Amino acid sequence: MNLNNKVIIVTGAAGGMGRAIVSQLLEQGAYVVGIDLSEKLLNQTKHPNYTVQAGNVLDETRIAEIFSQTFEKYGKIDGLVNALGIAQSATPIEEVSIEQWQKIMDINVKSLFITSKEAVRYMKSKNPGSIVTIGSISAVRPRPGLQAYVASKGAAESFSRALAIELAPYAIRVNTINPGPSDTNMLGQFTASGADVEATKKEIFIDSIPLGKLIEPEDIANAVSYLISDQSKMVTGATLNVDGGRGL
Ligand SMILES: NC(=O)c1ccc[n+]([C@@H]2O[C@H](COP(=O)([O-])OP(=O)(O)OC[C@H]3O[C@@H](n4cnc5c(N)ncnc54)[C@H](O)[C@@H]3O)[C@@H](O)[C@H]2O)c1
Repeated sequence: MNLNNKVIIVTGAAGGMGRAIVSQLLEQGAYVVGIDLSEKLLNQTKHPNYTVQAGNVLDETRIAEIFSQTFEKYGKIDGLVNALGIAQSATPIEEVSIEQWQKIMDINVKSLFITSKEAVRYMKSKNPGSIVTIGSISAVRPRPGLQAYVASKGAAESFSRALAIELAPYAIRVNTINPGPSDTNMLGQFTASGADVEATKKEIFIDSIPLGKLIEPEDIANAVSYLISDQSKMVTGATLNVDGGRGL
């Protein structure tokens, strides 16, 4: 993909998928701004066209500042990749507190409202633009005990579709990628409390993927590059499953 001179903001940029996404966008010629909680972790990626911005995506003021600084520096914002998220440890619903439910909905859904609102503010005046959100195949193929996480990812996909129709007149495209079980730190966090993480990875996750192996962060980065690039200029409101067939 040719992403020369595109200015792209990535949330969750220090995470397993985030790091692969940032590296690939940089390799393809983009200017990338990475947002995550920890500056130290963000700084693991070094590149002259990479700007690190530590911040909590739920902090509306800080996020507005990051978008405004990016626009001032480059004069435009072409892309937003919403790659952050938190997992849920598999838990029966009667043991899930309202606080646990709310935290997952806030980080996985409210964050999308906050970042997309800022992105659209700048993209509308300098269109076209592309917003890509990392959902989860669990939204359509749930596993037991992940009710809050699954609901948050269903909301993420619906939100993308709602924005896709609202923003089409401005040439701003909005799409979702639904990964299947992926080889990052997050995967172990889906296991039930006290369960053997490695055994769960093999027995539950890998064995549930028709193509027989975990999704790599680079597989997700490939899909992001396509949806951010002009190669996908007629794709909006779509969901791309990168799941090894898990959703079948
Ligand atoms: N790993 C999987 O199996 C899997 C499967 C399907 C979907 N997903 C989704 O893919 C996306 C990326 O997941 P990952 O596997 O790279 O996870 P990860 O845990 O490696 O990375 C997530 C990143 O988000 C950051 N983050 C969390 N809350 C934040 C906040 N409030 N503000 C700023 N940053 C915050 C974390 O610091 C972390 O660096 C998530 O949306 C996740 O739900 C993951």
